[in-house]
Amino acid sequence: MIDCLYSRYMIPFYPFPFPSSALHCSSISLMHTLSTFLLFIFLFSLSLACAATPCDFPAIFNFGDSNSDTGGLSAAFGQAGPPAGESFFHTPAGRYCDGRLVIDFVAESFGLPYLSAFLDSVGSNFSHGANFATAGSTIRPQNTTLHQSGFSPISLNVQFYEFNDFKHRSQLVRNKGGVFKRLLPKARVFSRALYAFDIGQNDLTAGYFLNMTTDEVRAYIPDVLGQFKTYVKNIHHLGGRSFWIHNTGPVGCLAYVLDRVPVEPGQIDKAGCADPFNQVAKYFNLKLNKTIVQLRKELPSAALTYVDVYSVKYELFSQARKHGFVNPLRSCCGHGGKHNYDMHVGCGAKIKVRGKEILVGKPCKDPSVAVVWDGVHYTQAANKWIFDQIVSGAYSDPPISLKEACHRH
Ligand SMILES: *[C@@H]1O[C@H](CO)[C@@H](O)[C@H](O)[C@H]1NC(C)=O
Ligand SMILES: *[C@@H]1O[C@H](CO)[C@@H](O)[C@H](O)[C@H]1NC(C)=O
Ligand SMILES: *[C@@H]1O[C@H](CO)[C@@H](O)[C@H](O)[C@H]1NC(C)=O
Ligand SMILES: *[C@@H]1O[C@H](CO)[C@@H](O)[C@H](O)[C@H]1NC(C)=O
Repeated sequence: MIDCLYSRYMIPFYPFPFPSSALHCSSISLMHTLSTFLLFIFLFSLSLACAATPCDFPAIFNFGDSNSDTGGLSAAFGQAGPPAGESFFHTPAGRYCDGRLVIDFVAESFGLPYLSAFLDSVGSNFSHGANFATAGSTIRPQNTTLHQSGFSPISLNVQFYEFNDFKHRSQLVRNKGGVFKRLLPKARVFSRALYAFDIGQNDLTAGYFLNMTTDEVRAYIPDVLGQFKTYVKNIHHLGGRSFWIHNTGPVGCLAYVLDRVPVEPGQIDKAGCADPFNQVAKYFNLKLNKTIVQLRKELPSAALTYVDVYSVKYELFSQARKHGFVNPLRSCCGHGGKHNYDMHVGCGAKIKVRGKEILVGKPCKDPSVAVVWDGVHYTQAANKWIFDQIVSGAYSDPPISLKEACHRH
């Protein structure tokens, strides 16, 4: 890992002190020119090494919820059905989206294949990483089943157990050689990989769906982030060094929250979003940032990048037209209600009319100008736009690009 320490302490100097008396005048000036030139080359290459050395991540390990699930929940609890995947994969692909997610664009940007879900035992290739995210995952384990509450039992602690098991057993199996060598990562990949996180949104909605007040939800956020911190440290203990951490989005702009948890008319903001939920998301993000600042102190060998995805997503909701999108609060795929969203008749839902099945959860005509896919998740077009904003580091703390996320600043 290259640090930027050198440039901070760099003082211009001449690399060759020359004894002037022994040299002829013209050769002194020649030496001077030459040494200045060498110095220039030296400083130039140093500044390149510091500011722009791409990290060349050989693999990505991802932890999260539906924002980055590439097939985990589908493998364990039934596939996300059509029309999911239609805009890109042309068939359902384990994603709650019409196409690719932000994590898919991250993988593409490194020239890596899309991440296989750890839970997907069919057709997976983990040589370039694994995805432990499942839709509905929370940081804290919930005390309800998926059936009761809709939250996944694969909370962050479970995702960590899976990663721990994967790291250990992938090597035992890889050592058998043959095809296993081409399906599992090399041991050295674990310390050089990018560890990506997008989790927390469901911890916030879990309280609201249990009828908690905003104050009650705020009160448990420190516990949620305490657990988050534990698992980042555990991954670091297993060799992880580069952490790319998304904060949580403006959940108060999504139909599944807007429609399900009532707020006073005065609490709807200019973008049409429910302000109390967005305020809670911002509070979570403030505390997440503080947690990461603390982690940087406790883990001096780790590079932790905090990515403000909230601001990017909120910009999309509040300035949709400017960015080429329309009706940002309206679900592209769904049925009924104010936002083309009904929690009982979701995207892809069919109803029976006189013995005939009719598709009611239809996708919109042009998903490429829609922000929200199904009332809960973003469209591929929105995910691409979000990725394009964050890749440069413009929304990151420290302000370094995705490709440089192995460097500490
Ligand atoms: C689940 O129950 C345990 C034991 O009562 C409690 O400590 C924990 O905070 C609960 N989790 C949530 C998310 O409420
Ligand atoms: C798995 O993916 C890697 C990287 O793309 C590739 O080199 C390898 O051949 C794949 N393994 C198999 C068995 O196809
Ligand atoms: C929350 O309140 C609603 C409306 O009063 C009620 O129907 C629902 O059962 C409550 N949910 C829980 C988990 O208590
Ligand atoms: C995170 O916290 C640090 C230290 O308090 C602050 O300087 C920085 O601006 C914060 N970053 C974001 C994106 O809020």
